Amino acid sequence: MAQAIPHSMRVITTNEEMSQACREAAKPVALVPTMGALHAGHLSLINQARTDNSTVAVSIFVNPSQFGDKKDLDKYPRDMENDLELLRRHGVDLVYAPSVGEVYPEGFNTWVDVGPLASKLEGLHRPEHFRGVATVVSKLFNLTRPTRAYFGQKDGQQAVVIQRLTVDLAMGVEVVVMPTIRDADGLAMSSRNDQLSPEQRFAAPVLYRALCQMYLLWSGGERDANVLRDAAGMILKSEPAVETIDYVSVADMSTLDELQVVESRVMVSAAVWMGAVRLIDNIVLE
Ligand code: PAJ
Repeated sequence: MAQAIPHSMRVITTNEEMSQACREAAKPVALVPTMGALHAGHLSLINQARTDNSTVAVSIFVNPSQFGDKKDLDKYPRDMENDLELLRRHGVDLVYAPSVGEVYPEGFNTWVDVGPLASKLEGLHRPEHFRGVATVVSKLFNLTRPTRAYFGQKDGQQAVVIQRLTVDLAMGVEVVVMPTIRDADGLAMSSRNDQLSPEQRFAAPVLYRALCQMYLLWSGGERDANVLRDAAGMILKSEPAVETIDYVSVADMSTLDELQVVESRVMVSAAVWMGAVRLIDNIVLE
């Protein structure tokens, strides 16, 4: 049997080198933006990118401008060595891992504001969050000029915001949204799950259970959005480990407007706090 040829992966830290590497790379080029601390959710995006494209670029950048809370930024997990090993094994060609100063040099002044879409749901509880996301993703798109970029449904509103900005600013990037990868008990994989205590981790699947209850009611013919919200709220409130419920939402998939009547494509989502950890999840009813 032929021996596997060792895969060579370039790790790049400057804008100039990244632009050049992408210009010279075999097309189509895929971009998978991440903040590192990679898990199976990220890897599912990378695997799909590998299948669909000649070159796969992954960015690892913990983007300060999308964190409202300095403490949240400081405690965000970082494990570059392990991440690079995973990316190598998954056949990634280019890794972009810039410093904060490379992305936001002195004098940086331009921000991408996606308007009302970005101020609902997560935006209500994390002002400025999507401004930071939209700006850094726009910059990554400009640097890499990918044919396709891959995002997870896990961050449902983020996917909608990025699809919107890509169309509005004629980025010419095909946005591919991949399904949420979950642990066996239903909890959506997230870099933040490791911050849960064993008791909180045990209780955390309640979030997915609440969303599934909305799905069950909907598939049984229920179309009153408040009935869905109330049912999910009851399940979340029954779990003592859930300290705060930021929202339970039944929203139109493209405008993210809250609905009274459940119509065609709907995203049901919720955000809760367990201690100091904030968890979000969603499912699409279609
Ligand atoms: P991060 O949280 O690292 O996520 C990177 C990508 O992986 C996002 O598109 C996210 O939706 C996806 N992802 C995370 N968990 C997933 C899961 N369980 N199943 C499927 N996909 C999952 O999202 C960000 O980083 C940042 O906001 C970023 C887009 C990189 C901009 O800074």
